[in-house]
Amino acid sequence: MRILLTGAAGFIGSHVGERLLTEGHTVIGIDNFDPFYDKGIKENNLRVCNSNNNFSFFELDIVTDKKSLSNLPMFDMVIHLAAKAGVRPSIENPEAYIDANFKGTNNILELLKNRELNKLVFASSSSVYGNCKNIPFQENEPLDKPISPYAFSKRSCEMMNYTYHHLYNIDIVNLRFFTVFGPRQRPDLAIHKFITKIFNGEAIHMFGNGTSARDYTYIDDIVKGVIDSMHYVSKTDNTFEVMNLGNNIPVQLDELIKIVEKVVGKKALVKQLPMQAGDVEITCASIEKAKELISYQPKVTVEKGIQNSFDWLKSSFKNT
Ligand SMILES: NC(=O)c1ccc[n+]([C@@H]2O[C@H](COP(=O)([O-])OP(=O)(O)OC[C@H]3O[C@@H](n4cnc5c(N)ncnc54)[C@H](O)[C@@H]3O)[C@@H](O)[C@H]2O)c1
Repeated sequence: MRILLTGAAGFIGSHVGERLLTEGHTVIGIDNFDPFYDKGIKENNLRVCNSNNNFSFFELDIVTDKKSLSNLPMFDMVIHLAAKAGVRPSIENPEAYIDANFKGTNNILELLKNRELNKLVFASSSSVYGNCKNIPFQENEPLDKPISPYAFSKRSCEMMNYTYHHLYNIDIVNLRFFTVFGPRQRPDLAIHKFITKIFNGEAIHMFGNGTSARDYTYIDDIVKGVIDSMHYVSKTDNTFEVMNLGNNIPVQLDELIKIVEKVVGKKALVKQLPMQAGDVEITCASIEKAKELISYQPKVTVEKGIQNSFDWLKSSFKNT
């Protein structure tokens, strides 16, 4: 297949791109190198994809470069991962999130519509569950209380996707990712920060008393879920699904810090701060639906995944 992959230079996008190319697909990657984090990191993420003849890359902004979008080469379906990610920065700058995530997704849906294509995999987020009290989170939970602009933008996209499915028969799988980690993880995310700071003997910030918990999901399990969802949506008609891709094992923040300390081999200097606005107490995915539809079964433990992340980060420490 020929796949348009948005956000190809990002953490998850670059891994998905590599796996698609390994499977023999043709990939058209697009990304605007959003300055949320360093362009050099994203260029590095793209290295393996760029070395494959079945990969082409276009630097463009899905919000503002509509003309460039409409001039892209032919493709059969879209995996749409491009977005402004992160809960906390979305509170500082909600408009940027509404632009990149909501308007950007609208432009991707319009592109599908105009080309009469009808297959889309969309990256949503566990954030849409907000402070949902029913654990584990199930996809059929009625969700109308997002607690950050990021969560709002992702939930709105899921709803807009439904509208395009209804009006234009676009088949869509919305994937709610739960805290993804592993090599190339975004530098703003906790595991990346904790490993780096503990390794360098710097203090880490612990928001809250350490009992908040996240369902950390390893990048390889997410990539497999994305690709299997792509195969699923490409083979089914009249499809509109929402699926959690999580690990179903929440890990408390104080426990996570202990795991990182053990892997890095150093004690953390912990500075405790109040919980931050927009942060939820716990995330935990029900993965029953993904098991049923795409035989999803996460395999990598948090301990093993943190070891892999450390091994990857260590090589970057050596280069600095
Ligand atoms: N990493 C996680 O834990 C996590 C959890 C839930 C959902 N998600 C979602 O998964 C997707 C990928 O996340 P990630 O962690 O790889 O983030 P990332 O920031 O590494 O990747 C996103 C990419 O999208 C690009 N982008 C942003 N705005 C764009 C625009 N207007 N035009 C073109 N490209 C644009 C960025 O430059 C970046 O390379 C995002 O949609 C994110 O919201 C991630």
